[in-house]
Amino acid sequence: MSETAKIAGSAEAEAQQQSNSTADAGFLWDFWYPALRSDEMRGKKLVTAMLLEVPLVLGRTTDGRSFAMRDSCPHRGIPLSCGHFDGKTVECSYHGWRFDGWTGQCVEIPSLTSQDKLKVERIFAGHYPCEERDGYVWVYMTAPGALPPEKLPAVPELAKFGARFKKTHLFCDLPSHVDHGIIGLMDPAHGPFVHQSWFWRSRRSIHEKQKAFEPIPHGFRMSPHSPSSNSAPYQLLKKMTGAPVTTTIDFVLPNMRTEIIQTGKLWFSSLTTITPFRRDLCRIDFVAAWNVPLPVFVFRSFAKTFLRQDQETMIQQSEGLKHNPRLMLIDDADRPAKWYFALKANLLEERRTGEPKAHPMSGPITLHWKS
Ligand code: FES
Ligand SMILES: [Fe+2]
Repeated sequence: MSETAKIAGSAEAEAQQQSNSTADAGFLWDFWYPALRSDEMRGKKLVTAMLLEVPLVLGRTTDGRSFAMRDSCPHRGIPLSCGHFDGKTVECSYHGWRFDGWTGQCVEIPSLTSQDKLKVERIFAGHYPCEERDGYVWVYMTAPGALPPEKLPAVPELAKFGARFKKTHLFCDLPSHVDHGIIGLMDPAHGPFVHQSWFWRSRRSIHEKQKAFEPIPHGFRMSPHSPSSNSAPYQLLKKMTGAPVTTTIDFVLPNMRTEIIQTGKLWFSSLTTITPFRRDLCRIDFVAAWNVPLPVFVFRSFAKTFLRQDQETMIQQSEGLKHNPRLMLIDDADRPAKWYFALKANLLEERRTGEPKAHPMSGPITLHWKS
């Protein structure tokens, strides 16, 4: 290769790389996302996280309010997490500017003298609404350059059906774009292949199923139904109460699956989210509560096995996706994935035009697949 061709080639590669990093990452802004678990934030410790490729620094003020700022000093960009937090204000490590944790407002610039007219209180560090729920610190990710709405939507919350219950959290990182994480989460056909276990099911137990779905705002619901007859734990539940077992599974944008299982007075409820850190990395967070007689450690070991199986699959898939293969979505097993993509496209279009779009499902529908 001639020297000029080599240079042109590397310039092209650089341009490509640049356009990759500025191309739309396919994130959904203006939603709550779980940034980290509440117990990771202790005392006056500053903690870092990343959501939608925005670096964040989080902490909790001495009066107990959690906050989230862009982890970048508005003066010269050094991460604020390199600085010091006194329980109320964050002091930048470079020139000592201080910012109120709760509002992001600048409260002091040590280099100013009586000669200076700079209005310190008009300077703000990037700042996001932040609330704790179900053991997670949720951050409302406003679109770049936009302000949060006057009235924020409610923070997502795990459904509970009584005051006494057990509860647990699990999480794992997935080396893929959030879309792949989400369609994997809603994918009914991988069960017999990925989740074979003695306690759950075997590959031979694959059989034909039909499930009713209905549209819900920004999502879809698997209508209340009796769960798979080939899953041992459901069989056990049914024996315990003698009452029918019903399961309702919802998916709602941007990234949330909820599942509620009830039989007689017993219940189990879970909330699973897939949160984009970067365009090539997301995290699955799972929080569950239940009053069925199931010890936490037993449940955790089963749930961990499941998550690990999904994670291993996603790691393998990410290897394949590096080569930009053409992919397909088939009916009916991939219909939930098609709905997800359509819901997402509709939402972006609605936000762009201000015009409401019709739900991709015209009404209730029954899907058929084998799993
Ligand atoms: S960079 Fe933060 S105070 Fe200068
Ligand atoms: Fe799975």
